[in-house]
Amino acid sequence: MIILIGNQKGGAGKSTLTLMLANYLCTEKQCRVTVLDMDYQQSLVQKFQRAKLLENPEAYQVIAASLEKFSDLYPLLQENPEDLVLIDLPGKLDDDGLIPLFQSANLVICPFGYDEFSFKSTVLFAVVLNKINPEIDIVFVPNRVKANVRYETREEVDEQLRKFGAVAGALPDRVDFQRVSTFSTPEAIRPVIRPVLDQIFVTHLSFLMDDLSANDLTAHDHE
Ligand SMILES: Nc1ncnc2c1ncn2[C@@H]1O[C@H](COP(=O)(O)OP(=O)(O)OP(=O)(O)O)[C@@H](O)[C@H]1O
Ligand SMILES: [Mg+2]
Repeated sequence: MIILIGNQKGGAGKSTLTLMLANYLCTEKQCRVTVLDMDYQQSLVQKFQRAKLLENPEAYQVIAASLEKFSDLYPLLQENPEDLVLIDLPGKLDDDGLIPLFQSANLVICPFGYDEFSFKSTVLFAVVLNKINPEIDIVFVPNRVKANVRYETREEVDEQLRKFGAVAGALPDRVDFQRVSTFSTPEAIRPVIRPVLDQIFVTHLSFLMDDLSANDLTAHDHE
């Protein structure tokens, strides 16, 4: 199954959310996970290499990938459809390489902020995605939400985004998010992340996973 984590807005939290989701799916749901880092900065691959040097146990692989290489990788990914492939997308939309990726994804998770610029890029991202793959399931995740700030446009923004997909519970702005690494999410933020990821898992992932394993069983029946 292919899960994209994307938004063309830089710094929205794509890479952080990719790792938190990978850590959660491995440790709490015992899923088989692979992360493809398609961001040009390859920040997740670098983190992964550092973690390996420190000899932390590897719960999953982080593989450097690029949009151009996706068509070569796709047949390989399809060999094990029940494996979860999380793809950290680059923050730009003007690349034709995104089309096959958008067409083959099962789910898109889109972190965003409630500031005006983030909202505009998020809507644009959703419009493009929707044009390329009208069937796609999108979950928007409000990120870096500050407890003491009243966001005037919050309800309006949520309402606009619901035209394209679901809006998940919000993740707060907390400095501990900067310590999320490959293989571990700081203990201090797990209680605030868990309900959001549980909600995404239950409403968007578990039935997709059931579908895939049912297909897999029927495929084996015919062998
Ligand atoms: N909820 C949060 N609270 C505090 N800091 C956060 C939160 N989420 C992300 N950050 C921090 O914000 C910065 C940007 O996050 P991240 O790198 O995940 O975004 P990105 O969308 O992948 O950015 P880019 O577009 O550059 O790839 C990082 O320093 C990260 O640690
Ligand atoms: Mg990133």
